[in-house]
Amino acid sequence: MLPPTIRPLLASDHAATAHLLHRSLVEWYQRHLNQGARFGDSPVPFRLFPEVYATLDPGEALAACDPTSGDLLGVCFIHPRPTHIALGIVATAPEAQGRGVARALLAPALDLARRTGRPVRLVSSLLNLDSFSLYSRLGFVPHTLYQDLTLTVPAAGLPGAPPPGADRVRLVTDPAEASRLAAFELAWQGLDRTTDYTFFLRNTVGDWRVWVLENAAGELEGFLVASQHPSCVMLGPGVTRGETAAAALLWRALDAQRGASPVFLVPCTASGLVRQCYAWGARNVELHAAQALGPVAPARGLTFPTFLPESG
Ligand SMILES: CC(C)(COP(=O)(O)OP(=O)(O)OC[C@H]1O[C@@H](n2cnc3c(N)ncnc32)[C@H](O)[C@@H]1OP(=O)(O)O)[C@@H](O)C(=O)NCCC(=O)NCCS
Repeated sequence: MLPPTIRPLLASDHAATAHLLHRSLVEWYQRHLNQGARFGDSPVPFRLFPEVYATLDPGEALAACDPTSGDLLGVCFIHPRPTHIALGIVATAPEAQGRGVARALLAPALDLARRTGRPVRLVSSLLNLDSFSLYSRLGFVPHTLYQDLTLTVPAAGLPGAPPPGADRVRLVTDPAEASRLAAFELAWQGLDRTTDYTFFLRNTVGDWRVWVLENAAGELEGFLVASQHPSCVMLGPGVTRGETAAAALLWRALDAQRGASPVFLVPCTASGLVRQCYAWGARNVELHAAQALGPVAPARGLTFPTFLPESG
């Protein structure tokens, strides 16, 4: 078996990429967990992934191709940032799994990390042992555990009174705000993702809302991005000083999605926040671990990671 050819993913690959992402997830989750149906019956929503990544990190996504036929065997999305390199979804076509395709796709990102002395970060599903062990064998170490929660926001709004501070949460839309959000994350989490916040605020691909919470002195208490695109209804990324600010931001972002069922990842250690989410009607749907290869920056506060764009 010849090793796959690794090349940049092109715009002309978007349809095949969506098909491959859908096929590999459905097949893997059906075979191992009998849960293939959770990814729906159409590859069309998965087109959002290569489209978002082509704008967010042009030229960084990789394709693994059959060296003879040129067929797409795997894809991997890479997000180099000044403080770290984030890895997005990695997927191998079902018939090509277990032959080193994912390893070959990850090699350039790991090389870049070694050459530039940056850690590599990602979030991986703890229900997917092939993915967890792929990263574990490459040296990644889990550092934070998240529970994936979801709830259908009632048409009349969430039950109970809004949490303290919810009335002070507001939307920001000016791309100039990106540096402020990024500076907050750098101070609290040691990560620089200015690129990501500029992308959300420009809001040209996908459908994003950016919520912020400030204290009486006008300082940020936290922020939370929400994806409202029908292909990815999800809250995050976000960073807050603590659980109180997190509850206010979550409440406001959920309230703005009445009738929808967003997914969001909450750190398992934020037990008060988790109880609050249960009181709003949230249910557990999956578990994710943030894993890093290399040193993990000292972090304070809470984070809400996402899968689009991946933000471990
Ligand atoms: C996860 C996934 C990308 C792996 O792709 P792959 O091309 O089959 O992976 P590779 O063949 O390159 O490597 C897998 C490695 O994990 C190891 N591995 C797999 N299952 C393992 C297990 N249960 N325990 C220990 N090691 C395991 C393999 O031995 C191999 O390591 P090696 O190269 O040292 O032998 C693939 O299963 C997939 O596409 N799954 C569906 C999509 C998905 O879930 N993606 C990840 C979530 S974003």
